[in-house]
Amino acid sequence: MKISKKAQSVPASMTLEISAKVKQLKSEGKSIIGFTAGEPNFNTPDYIIESAKQALDNGMTKYTPVAGIPELKKAIVEKFKRDNGLEYEESQIIVSDGAKSSLFHAIYCLVDEGDEVIIPAPFWFTYEEQVKICGGKPVIVQTKAENGYKITPSELENAITDKTVTILINSPSNPTGALYSKEELLALSKVVEKHNLTVISDEIYEKLVYDGVEHVSIASLSPYMKENTIVVNGVSKTYAMTGWRVGYLAAPKALAGAISRVQGHTTSNACSFAQYASVTALQGGEDVIENMRQDFDERRKYMCSLLDEMGVKYIKPQGAFYLFIDISQFIGKAFEGKVIDGSMAFASILTENGVALIPGLPFHADNFVRVSYAVSIDDIKEGFKRIKAFIDKLN
Ligand SMILES: Cc1ncc(COP(=O)(O)O)c(C=O)c1O
Repeated sequence: MKISKKAQSVPASMTLEISAKVKQLKSEGKSIIGFTAGEPNFNTPDYIIESAKQALDNGMTKYTPVAGIPELKKAIVEKFKRDNGLEYEESQIIVSDGAKSSLFHAIYCLVDEGDEVIIPAPFWFTYEEQVKICGGKPVIVQTKAENGYKITPSELENAITDKTVTILINSPSNPTGALYSKEELLALSKVVEKHNLTVISDEIYEKLVYDGVEHVSIASLSPYMKENTIVVNGVSKTYAMTGWRVGYLAAPKALAGAISRVQGHTTSNACSFAQYASVTALQGGEDVIENMRQDFDERRKYMCSLLDEMGVKYIKPQGAFYLFIDISQFIGKAFEGKVIDGSMAFASILTENGVALIPGLPFHADNFVRVSYAVSIDDIKEGFKRIKAFIDKLN
């Protein structure tokens, strides 16, 4: 059977692939600690599950409006006002089956064939693939350690051409955990406005921030940014609801209309009863979220302390639940005769030795590997013991 050239050029999602491999190795009885998953290891809070059950009992099992049920759109409007100081009308909100889907639809509706999209690296690899699928050209800007792996106004300015349409900002970042301050976003927004561009702001990790830092939405910084930013968010990470598949975006009215039209032909509405559960999620339970955040914070600090003890460098994350570990000192070394020539080899040989993590290459950072601290303290303890044993054997 023919497979389209478009489809053939799309690689599989590496995180999903490696997570599946870990599951398979475990089912074969191998002892393997997985630091790969991009999801909380908590169950969805009971009161959210209860509201989904209630929605099912109430017969909420049918199609809903493409852009989401009115109750959820209202809850999202309130959330933007409460958390981000952003005022939207319900017509500007599009609920989708996950932030990934919202991102795709936003890119699809902004980008024509050959249009350029600026993506600061390291970045979540889905961005690049989505831009390519939509016919756009990803323009990758390598950020620097001295700038906290965040794009600077001059780097942005230098990357802009007459084909540039939008820039993707992800704060806090997957994979680095970097968080842009208000001042940094303000400086970037001036460049964006000067060149009449738009921003797609992926704020999915907004609630997972540490050390007292504050998440700011670039959309809230000026009337221009409000009118020219697509804010993407969802319930997956904050409420431990990855499997429910509910995301959302806020966009200027005309673009929101286009996204709704396209979504009407791609995925239609997000799961009906998951939308009702998302209303409950967004309307309360701050203490539940705070408890999860504190647990992540504890694990983050624990992992950092273990790496410090091992003398291994990493990017100290201010948000999300990932640690990006610098493996440059191990590149060129060998494990039992197998040479580590980059992050792929490092990850692959380590997996054979009982620890799975994500290589940095697809994030455009081959000197790094990503571990998730959305895992239990016991797994961190055992996993890092294995990593230390692995590193000690390198020569
Ligand atoms: C940066 C980033 N954005 C978006 C998503 C997608 O989230 P969702 O589960 O809502 O599709 C992820 C998931 O890993 C992510 O890391």
